[in-house]
Formats: sequence, C-alpha cells, structure tokens
Amino acid sequence: MSREVITNLTLATMERGARPYGLVDDGAVAVEDGRIVWCGPVDAMPDAGATWPRCDLGGRLVTPALIDCHTHIVHGGDRAREFEMRLQGVSYEDIARAGGGIFSTVEATRRTDPDTLLAGALPRVDALIAEGVSTIEIKSGYGLDVETELAMLRTARRIAAERPVRVRTSFLGAHAVPPEYAGRSDAYIDEVCLPALDAAHAEGLVDAVDGFCEGIAFGPARIERLFERAGTLGLPVKLHADQLSDLGGAALAARHHALSADHLEFVSEAGVRALAEAGTVAVLLPGAAYTLHAPRHPPLELLRRYEVPMAISTDCNPGSSPLASLLLAMNMACTLFRLTPEEALAGVTREAARALGIDDAGRIAPGLRADLAVWDVTHPAELAYRIGFNPLVERIVAPI
Ligand code: NIG
Ligand code: FE
Repeated sequence: MSREVITNLTLATMERGARPYGLVDDGAVAVEDGRIVWCGPVDAMPDAGATWPRCDLGGRLVTPALIDCHTHIVHGGDRAREFEMRLQGVSYEDIARAGGGIFSTVEATRRTDPDTLLAGALPRVDALIAEGVSTIEIKSGYGLDVETELAMLRTARRIAAERPVRVRTSFLGAHAVPPEYAGRSDAYIDEVCLPALDAAHAEGLVDAVDGFCEGIAFGPARIERLFERAGTLGLPVKLHADQLSDLGGAALAARHHALSADHLEFVSEAGVRALAEAGTVAVLLPGAAYTLHAPRHPPLELLRRYEVPMAISTDCNPGSSPLASLLLAMNMACTLFRLTPEEALAGVTREAARALGIDDAGRIAPGLRADLAVWDVTHPAELAYRIGFNPLVERIVAPI
C-alpha cells in the first residue's frame, strides 16, 4: 500500500463552492494507492495523516491534471500545403469540396502502416503530457473504410499502453463521405460505417460514437441512424455540431442524450436550450475557430444563461486545428471566445471529464483518482494568461 500527504501548496480543487476555482490556501492532499482520500486546509487534516510520508511542494499551485476531451491526434500526413492555400484565400469548405481537407488526410492515413501511425501520434501526445494532461480522447474518422477505422482505434489503444495517459476512444466513421461513396452517403453508412462500428465495438475499441453533422459531411437523418446503432450497442454519443452552419446538430445530440456537442459556432438558442435540458456538455474548440478564421464564435452569453456546462479542447487535427497545446487552447478560449480563466480551467478539468462520461477525475475530491498537476504559478488565472509558456512542474497520475 502506498501512502503520501502532499503539503505546502495552494489547491484549485475545481469543486463548485464559495471560492472561485475551489481554492484552498495552505492546502494538503492525502493520497493512498493512487486515490485521493482527503484534501483541504492543512490545519484541518485528520490526525491519521500526520504519520504518513510527506511531500513538500514549496507553495506551488495544484490543480486536477488536465483532460483533452476532443482530439484527432492519430492521423497520417499533414496539411501544411492547405494552410498555405487558405492563406491565399481558398476556404476550408472549398478545399474539402475539391477533394482536399479531410480526404487528403484519409488518403494519407490509409497509406500509413500502424507502427508509423503510432510513431506520428506520440510526439503530439507527449506535448500534451508535458502540459499536465492525464486523459486524452482520440477519434477515428480518417480511415472511412473498415480496416483503417479499426487501425486508428487500435493505435489509440496502443498509445495508452506506450504512455502514462488514459485514452478514451470515439468512433468517428461518420466524419466524411469518402470519394468512392460520393453521392451515396446512405450506402456508405450501411456498407462501411455501421459494419465498422460493429466490428470496432466487438473488439472493445469504442468508448463513444461521434459524427460530423454538416453540409460537407452528414445530414441529421444519417447521423440519427448512426446514433440509433450506438444506442443498440449501449454506447454513448457525441457530435461535431453546428460548426459551419446550423443543421440543428445540437438539438439532435441532445435528443440522444449525447455526452457532448462540439464546436457550436452556429448553434441556435433552441439548440442551446436543448443542450441544457439534456445535460449535454458544449465542447468549445477555439483552435479550429482561430485556424479557420471562423466568422462566428459560440454564443457564450446564451450558453451561460442556460447554464450549459462548457469544456475546452485542442481538437488536435491536421486540418482545422493543428494544435497540441491545451494551455494555448485555454488562452484562446479566453481571448477569442471571452471565457473567464476559471471557465477555461474548468473546461479542461471538471467539464472535460463530464464530456467524456468520466466521474473519477477532473476535480480534487476524496474518492477520485489522484491525477494532479503541479504548477509554478501563484494564481490559477496564470494558466490561461500566458501564451506559449508552460509552467508545469510535475504531473502526478494514478496507476492507469
Ligand atoms: O473537429 N469538424 C470536423 N472535424 C475536424 C476537422 C477535421 C479536418 O479538417 O481534418 C474538426 O475540426
Ligand atoms: Fe474534431
């Protein structure tokens, strides 16, 4: 049995309560076998803790370890050439319609063998870990055939074996209609997407089912069919919704009690209300809005008014968000979308856990995993405030 009390620290528990960030000055956390057994002001520590080994953190700030709840971190190739094209004025949607965009990554991913897929993803995973990330969601969706969708998800599982990080997988077979099914999206759903989901589920590769509900991807009726299959398999759903236009994606996600609806630049008030009623988390992805010069940002005031939980993520992908820094995503969420630094930190901890259906991390509280990040800052707002600076001292994670 391993036991330790970490002391001489400021705690940002991210528990809702009287103080912003759930702050506890001069705090302590007692950890037993990777679980938090007690936390609070050191003066209030139970006597039993006094005999446990101590670790002095020198007055540093301790937060929950970060959670990146929306990534496409496993993929072949890159899209730097498209970056150049967009800067010359060609739009993301025009590139997609001309066979580039997601399709160029699909082509590259299909050509990449599993070991190379893994080797390509690990430096991006390592960049997140270096910023205190303990849990990463990883989507498929650049295979769009049964074999490559499975290869992407197996690679995601291998990442959890190669690195001290928890991985949650999402099956994103409904990311785009591949060229060989152009104009036949129903046939793609029947012949590839649903069989791939069944096969991936049978192999234990799927924690959730995701889709891209958009003019350049799948309309609501097809997503509905996918979600029905997810329901049959007992899998939770999430959705890329209302990013480039309002197709009612948020309301569709809410009807299926989705864990999250992601992007939401074009969500309507009815969509926001539906998210609130369903308890679906809004995952905001400022890296994509920044990269694509999004003409609109998610309706923050509406999301706040309806008390929709908001998570923040990198959306790490080779096209719309080649971002492998969750700290920078927090900064962008504040500067671009106008979140408060407290909302941004909650968005990569408490609410990101909720967006993944995880209830044992994302806060500092007794009974939860001791997944903690130790920062060389005096106030938690500093985490979102600096740009391109990483003040992580140490990441403490429970055995995976
Ligand atoms: O989350 N919106 C759809 N999917 C990704 C982009 C994928 C790509 O462009 O390769 C996203 O932004
Ligand atoms: Fe995405």
